[in-house]
Amino acid sequence: MPKGLFITFEGADGCGKTTQIKLLDEYLRSKGYKTLLTREPGAKGLGERVREILLNYDGEVSPRCESFLFLADRAQHADCIIKPAVKNGMIVLCDRHTDSTIAYQGYGRGVNIAELKALNEMAVNGLKPDLTLVFDIDVETSMERVGTEKDRMESSGIEFFERVRLGYLEIAKQEPERVKVIDATRSVEEIHNKVLELLKNVIG
Ligand code: TMP
Repeated sequence: MPKGLFITFEGADGCGKTTQIKLLDEYLRSKGYKTLLTREPGAKGLGERVREILLNYDGEVSPRCESFLFLADRAQHADCIIKPAVKNGMIVLCDRHTDSTIAYQGYGRGVNIAELKALNEMAVNGLKPDLTLVFDIDVETSMERVGTEKDRMESSGIEFFERVRLGYLEIAKQEPERVKVIDATRSVEEIHNKVLELLKNVIG
């Protein structure tokens, strides 16, 4: 059986990662790899319900409550979906994972980062991405792409997203082996080629 892989896609809202994850999925399938395309929050099943609360609940949500909801979704996703797929030799492509919590709740909302790291570890219980791609883009361009219909998270404001962006860059600085930053202002094709180049290092 081929070795399973776990690859995560990260970046601020409107960075283009969802387009890129789909392109990579199509590419890998065309080469005969077995893939699983999934996301956080909102993988199949329970995750879909948690996503609904996180993105659409219109009352007050405290930053710590928000963190725990993302973490609860992650624990379920890691145990019931990602780990079994990796064990079965699949390449799991995941739209957001642990680094989103550090960037959004930690750098963005100001929740204690050391505590979030420990909670992330508890949620994933040993799971770690083989590769993480951060799609970096200036906040003005990403907000333009998001448009005027914003969900609860996307409505957090320009300064929040500046902090999220810096958070991702800091994470990449701290873990350069795992986390690679891609310039997301380039064309879709150029970015896809960069993704393939970085993938070669982990796929063998
Ligand atoms: P998406 O629309 O890219 O799927 O992202 C859902 C939103 O949830 C996005 O605004 C980022 C946010 N998010 C967090 O704030 N913390 C997290 O841990 C995760 C996974 C997502």
